[in-house]
Amino acid sequence: MEARLNMFVFLSLVAAAALLQGSSAQTTHVVGDDMGWLVPPGGEVAYRTWAAAQTFTVGDVLVFNFTASAHNVAEVSKEAFDSCNTTNTISISTTSPTNITLASAGEHHFLCTFPQHCGLGQKLAINVTAAAAPGPQPATPPPAPGTEVYTVGDGLGWLVPPGGDIAYETWARNKTFAVGDVLVFNFTNAAHNVLQVTKAEFDACNVSTTTTAPITASPARITLASRGEHYYMCTFPQHCSLGQKLAINVTGGDATAPAPAPTSPAPRPSTPATPPPSSAAPPPTAGGPSTPATPPPSSAGGPSTPATPSPLTPPPPPSGSAAPVAAAALPFSVLAVALAFLCN
Ligand SMILES: *[C@@H]1O[C@H](CO)[C@@H](O)[C@H](O)[C@H]1NC(C)=O
Ligand SMILES: *[C@@H]1O[C@H](CO)[C@@H](O)[C@H](O)[C@H]1NC(C)=O
Ligand SMILES: *[C@@H]1O[C@H](CO)[C@@H](O)[C@H](O)[C@H]1NC(C)=O
Ligand SMILES: *[C@@H]1O[C@H](CO)[C@@H](O)[C@H](O)[C@H]1NC(C)=O
Ligand SMILES: *[C@@H]1O[C@H](CO)[C@@H](O)[C@H](O)[C@H]1NC(C)=O
Ligand SMILES: *[C@@H]1O[C@H](CO)[C@@H](O)[C@H](O)[C@H]1NC(C)=O
Repeated sequence: MEARLNMFVFLSLVAAAALLQGSSAQTTHVVGDDMGWLVPPGGEVAYRTWAAAQTFTVGDVLVFNFTASAHNVAEVSKEAFDSCNTTNTISISTTSPTNITLASAGEHHFLCTFPQHCGLGQKLAINVTAAAAPGPQPATPPPAPGTEVYTVGDGLGWLVPPGGDIAYETWARNKTFAVGDVLVFNFTNAAHNVLQVTKAEFDACNVSTTTTAPITASPARITLASRGEHYYMCTFPQHCSLGQKLAINVTGGDATAPAPAPTSPAPRPSTPATPPPSSAAPPPTAGGPSTPATPPPSSAGGPSTPATPSPLTPPPPPSGSAAPVAAAALPFSVLAVALAFLCN
């Protein structure tokens, strides 16, 4: 009995810790990491490099760590940032560390107003993305329960198929693709790539009008963000016309989502009290309109922008967001296990 009680206490602590972790979705970014906030030895590239390695989401916190007598931190307009004009600041703080919560999406610009410091590189520009779901939820939830991950071509992978066009047509034919599902293109780097294109580009195997760059690193994971027809091809010469092209039809919502894959690695928590994260939601507005059934005329000089935005860079699994969601569901199952254990 004592062992069971100890087990219960232990599991309860695990559950409590998981709950705590699950409730703090925002990320803290210490600007410049260990370097802190100063006139960087290498010039402005220092903070540009630092920022490029981060993902900033509304609600995240920037920590400016500096010597208070030697520096300060001010948020400024883009114009002021570009010209290092310190006359008008949006806000300014002279105490260290300064914590700034990123309250809005878009670009934010910071600099030190001490003479010369900005010009010498003590300036930081960041891009903040909106949280995906309303409310204090993780910014980008991992694939919701019920979404599928499809490896394009299965074992064949993504290549010039021996049989021509028919290969990927056949692969796609009996599958149901839903918003939120993920396509994985598995290919040999430097020999292939993958680009989402318009129907006209797909039909003609011609991407001369495309301004977006293909994904060149395998495996490329593309989350299907909108309903309608989606077209993909390899842009290497001849590859598309030899059949390295894929067209799919994406349906919406989870109403039609197939049952969870039996191969799914993680057991799904059975917590009916918690609504499923995002699959029941309408397609994200950021995804724009889905592709019309009839393609827009590609000639006539009209803008040939594809109606379907290309999720060209698959969002990297956000560090820290997968854990909280899994963790949020954890306490229920953990407690259930603990209770079952006790009641035995
Ligand atoms: C701020 O900088 C000081 C001195 O370099 C350091 O001791 C401290 O740990 C830093 N704080 C943070 C939050 O990085
Ligand atoms: C700095 O910006 C202010 C307005 O915010 C402007 O009046 C001033 O002329 C600018 N200074 C320089 C050197 O551009
Ligand atoms: C923010 O993103 C926009 C659009 O992607 C881009 O044009 C701009 O250069 C970015 N700004 C910074 C500071 O990274
Ligand atoms: C990708 O292809 C390689 C070589 O064919 C294979 O070893 C690997 O398991 C494949 N990866 C996926 C995710 O299918
Ligand atoms: C591709 O399309 C562009 C314009 O849409 C056209 O000028 C070019 O000739 C086409 N290339 C081929 C190989 O058809
Ligand atoms: C998608 O569905 C529409 C209507 O059901 C059909 O006309 C179209 O051919 C389909 N496209 C693909 C790529 O399967």
